[in-house]
Amino acid sequence: MKKNWWKEAVVYQIYPRSFKDSNGDGIGDIRGIIEKIDYICELGVDVVWLNPVYKSPNVDNGYDISDYLSVMQDFGTMEDLDELIVKLHKKGIKIILDLVLNHTSDKHPWFLQSRQSVDNPYRNYYVWRDRPNNWRSLFEGPAWTYDEQTGQYYLHIFAKEQPDLNWEHKPLREELYNMVNFWLDKGIDGFRLDAISLISKHPDFPDAEETGWDGLGNGTRYFMNGPRLHTYLRELYDRCFDGRDIMTVGECAGVPAEEIINIVGQSRKELNMVFYMDHMFVDISDDGYRFGRPYPRQWSWKELFSIIKQWNSAIAPDGWLSFYLGNHDFPRCVSRFGNDGEFLRESATMLAAFLLTMPGTIYIYQGDEIGMSNARFSDIEDYRDIESINYYKQVKEKGGDLYAAMEELKNKSRDNARTPMQWTAGKNAGFTEGKPWINLNPSYKDINVAMQKGNPLSVLENYRRLIALRKRHKNPLVYGRLIEISCEDGFIHYAREYEGDRLDIILNPSDKKIAFDLNYSSVLYNNYEQSELPSFLSPYQALILQ
Ligand code: GLC
Ligand code: CA
Repeated sequence: MKKNWWKEAVVYQIYPRSFKDSNGDGIGDIRGIIEKIDYICELGVDVVWLNPVYKSPNVDNGYDISDYLSVMQDFGTMEDLDELIVKLHKKGIKIILDLVLNHTSDKHPWFLQSRQSVDNPYRNYYVWRDRPNNWRSLFEGPAWTYDEQTGQYYLHIFAKEQPDLNWEHKPLREELYNMVNFWLDKGIDGFRLDAISLISKHPDFPDAEETGWDGLGNGTRYFMNGPRLHTYLRELYDRCFDGRDIMTVGECAGVPAEEIINIVGQSRKELNMVFYMDHMFVDISDDGYRFGRPYPRQWSWKELFSIIKQWNSAIAPDGWLSFYLGNHDFPRCVSRFGNDGEFLRESATMLAAFLLTMPGTIYIYQGDEIGMSNARFSDIEDYRDIESINYYKQVKEKGGDLYAAMEELKNKSRDNARTPMQWTAGKNAGFTEGKPWINLNPSYKDINVAMQKGNPLSVLENYRRLIALRKRHKNPLVYGRLIEISCEDGFIHYAREYEGDRLDIILNPSDKKIAFDLNYSSVLYNNYEQSELPSFLSPYQALILQ
């Protein structure tokens, strides 16, 4: 297996809107990130991934780009971004940006032109049809919107303010490649490619076979993993990535594990790695849609573990993957896979041990390193996320059960992971001097960086130890095989092994005590304070043994 810096990297994901506000307008910004570089550095991470910072009307918090070549005013200026890149690099930290190539904002000049007339030179930059099909948008409601000006419908797999780009059209692809090269020439270290598995659609746009509660159908098999996906990825590689020492990670919903090697296999020259999502839907749904499904879906650690094994065996012999337990699109990991009440510290640190002993490039989402939990807002007015708000509106329009809808939002809304970073127990958790754009999670009084810093038992210090441990033992932990030993009754035991160098990891993902009588020469990590190996495992205990 070829060794690369991006395989060994631990990536810290920053959601700029919620990280740190430097000017009191209640919105996190680039200067705020600059203020916190030491914090990022002390964590021991290698790479920062920034969610989109381009100019945007913010219908989907920056994932609706109206100008790829300038920085969103809320976040600062291009000079601020340049300064952030230089300052991170000085500390030896790399930076990757979020590349949204599947769609733009409906305020992008290309779309403003495109909707003008059927013979506008930009018409084919987007997907226009006389008649819509029955696809449901991933953000609820139909995936097509009628535009009066020209009497046709345009496609938007996400919100109606996010029209899909038409990759079939060569001039559009050329513009995108130029833009990608502009950013790479600036010296950034790579990209996370948003919704990249959606860029090629089935040429006939067939209706989905079955329709659901809203009269719409799941068209994912027709708009994900389409027939020209590999052609386009390869072209993107040839035109932009080839010859550069960068990392690329694609968000690849809808590409089955059996096919993933065709994207990440080294000889394919497409992407370095992907984010797979099956494990992130384990408690949410069977079909990739988030809402309108009973929660929680029954799941087990055995199932979660078998998903991980399946994906890891699918990338043989020379592909690579990433691994993560949270990001800006999912509720907080400690609330889903741990216990965010009585055992918050224990379960958050156990999840950290799990995360940082998995194969693949590891991604940590801001706030998880201090054990931030779901905000569970109970008033629809407190929600900001377009997906959540759209869902609530749909239920309301259709006369559905609004109480049940609110319960779903509390558990599944993306806003759970988007509340401001909790720096201190003081005003607004030290996030802003002003009024935050989204409410804080009231937990900040007990869960914050200031209280955890220097306390060896804290979630934060455990993350630091584990990141350092992953670096020290990178042969087994980064490059080693994943060996499942037991995944029964809540007792999880697996090993990572590389040419005889082996670590064993033992987790108790439950709030019960479990008998334990294995012998090891040394304990490299324990999330409880114990000088010797215990004879039973405490709730959410995690051990790394040699
Ligand atoms: C990706 C992003 C998500 C965004 C969507 C549309 O899934 O991670 O936040 O809403 O794409 O761009
Ligand atoms: Ca600000």
